[in-house]
Amino acid sequence: MPRPRRDELFGILKASDDIVQQMRVAAEAAMKNAYCSYSKFSVGAAVLAADGEIFAGCNVENASYGLTMCAERNAIFQAVAKGALSKERKLKAVVVVTPNKKLTPPCGACRQVIYEFCEEADADIFIFGGNNACSFKLSTLLPEAFGPENLREK
Ligand code: THU
Repeated sequence: MPRPRRDELFGILKASDDIVQQMRVAAEAAMKNAYCSYSKFSVGAAVLAADGEIFAGCNVENASYGLTMCAERNAIFQAVAKGALSKERKLKAVVVVTPNKKLTPPCGACRQVIYEFCEEADADIFIFGGNNACSFKLSTLLPEAFGPENLREK
């Protein structure tokens, strides 16, 4: 996989950018492995870490329903386990993919976890489904967020 160009990582990302398309391919591959026999709703996600690496995840359901984990959080946790996301190494963008035409934005819990790792308290979120696509800034989906900075101030 070619390394992203510097302007792709540090400029404003667009859905048509190569790096976003690479994330989409990674999210679609993960979506094929979704473990979702209860909802039958498969989701794939990919996150872009600040050094340009992409990590993907799918939703993993459980017979006890409440233990279900979303694709977005699984992608983020993969990146954390590999050392690509940390207090110093931040997340730039998230891609979410479903087979549905109705686009699936990240759930509230995932928004909060994305916020934990995003650079300068914001990130680009791209959503693909069927032939549709849209994008948001995390700050639009989760305004006035609670985050690590709240615990630093006394
Ligand atoms: N799901 C995700 O993976 N991400 C989201 O942002 C929304 C919901 C999953 C969880 C569950 O396996 C299925 O979709 C139905 O809620």
